[in-house]
Amino acid sequence: MVSAVAVETIKNTLWSIYDWLFSTFWIIESSRNDNKVDVYRKMVWPDISGNVLELGPGFAGSLKFLVHATTTDGSFHVDPNVITSYMALEPNPFMYGRMQGNAETNGFNVEYDRQSCPDDKVRDTASPKPGKVPFKIVRGTLDDAKAIPEVVLAQAPFDSILTSFALCTVRDPESSLKNIQSLLKPGGTFYFIEHVRQPDPDDKTVVEDNGVDAVFWGKVQDWITPVWRILGHGCHVDRRSGLTIAKIGGWKLVDYKSVRPVIDIQSRIMPLSFGKAVKADS
Ligand SMILES: C[S@@+](CC[C@H](N)C(=O)[O-])C[C@H]1O[C@@H](n2cnc3c(N)ncnc32)[C@H](O)[C@@H]1O
Repeated sequence: MVSAVAVETIKNTLWSIYDWLFSTFWIIESSRNDNKVDVYRKMVWPDISGNVLELGPGFAGSLKFLVHATTTDGSFHVDPNVITSYMALEPNPFMYGRMQGNAETNGFNVEYDRQSCPDDKVRDTASPKPGKVPFKIVRGTLDDAKAIPEVVLAQAPFDSILTSFALCTVRDPESSLKNIQSLLKPGGTFYFIEHVRQPDPDDKTVVEDNGVDAVFWGKVQDWITPVWRILGHGCHVDRRSGLTIAKIGGWKLVDYKSVRPVIDIQSRIMPLSFGKAVKADS
């Protein structure tokens, strides 16, 4: 009979292969699509400031759109007067190498949380450079309030939390969003860019309509999601993330826009919602 330990080992190995496959796919996909998505990153990310948490950063392609400054050595680095610390909460360890490279290119001091990433082979910054902003890589999610990594709780509350294209994958968006909100300071801001189910034809957040048949393509999204989520490492194309953010309440402001770009077939099944939600003051 196969022991419980063997079953666990097989499960972990298969999950690792799934993680690796997705990270490899993401190298291709992000290089293909980053330019299209950067338009929205440029609109939303420059407001991010203070003690920051990013959920599901992947390769951390967002960092170059934070506020930068020219440092004393003439290099163009993230501005320590705007961003004081950065925590990257990412469950897939195959993302870490490129994430670290991007963080270093943008002038951060990179460090791993050894409790959640004990086996990671990638180096920590040997000698932290004075004046550079700390960047901590933490393995985990906000799926479950009881399983938020200790180091995240210790660094909370955050001034800013951001995520792009991760709410489509989290186990339960409402629960992750409530955890995001609980980790924010009163008055702190959640910034997001997500692909969503086609907004209804009369949705007031739509700023770019492009004549897409929203009803038809919304149904297509519902039909394909069961297969898509298996192929796409848990990604759902039928989530209404903007509406879910507004629905959980507890915000003093929810401000987002939606677009139905007609670039290719992928855009019809991945319209975007992007913007921010500001936590109520008390
Ligand atoms: C589609 S990629 C987006 C990566 C990056 N945010 C970007 O915009 O390029 C989704 C990311 O979410 C991460 N992820 C998957 N499940 C997650 C979860 N339950 N909680 C947080 N992040 C998750 C994946 O590992 C991956 O890095």
